[in-house]
Amino acid sequence: MRVHVIHGPNLNLLGIRDPAIYGTLTLDELNARIADLAAELKVEVEFFQFNSEGALIDCIHASRERAQGLIVNAGAYAHSSIAIADAITSVGLPAVEAHLSNIYAREAYRRISVIAPVCIGSVVGLGPNAYLLALRGLVAHLYP
Ligand code: DQA
Repeated sequence: MRVHVIHGPNLNLLGIRDPAIYGTLTLDELNARIADLAAELKVEVEFFQFNSEGALIDCIHASRERAQGLIVNAGAYAHSSIAIADAITSVGLPAVEAHLSNIYAREAYRRISVIAPVCIGSVVGLGPNAYLLALRGLVAHLYP
């Protein structure tokens, strides 16, 4: 079983970007933690990061035949991109939304996720653990 972890815009700058909100872990360090858990859970994991909406959509489309599930942090696109939500629906893969920060405790414009309704679940606000819990939830969904 393979899971694709798809990071959206500005997440390549983790570690230097607003550390008070997003923490000090770099994207590589975050991915390493996810990879450790994936090994423990005996699932394969592949990582992607794109800053543009179209690249994220292409990545989701390409996942259709290469992965059994998705973890998606669409970054700010989570609050606006119907196109990314449509891409998730279109490929028919179970997806879990992850956000490092608690989007419900921040600015009003972050309190809506248009991705959430097309995902099997969302984990927000726990820092790197959001991704780890998302992976556990996705694996439990795939192997009930
Ligand atoms: C984020 C939350 C978004 O509102 C923000 O635009 C990001 C990061 C998070 O992981 O907390 O880029 O997705």
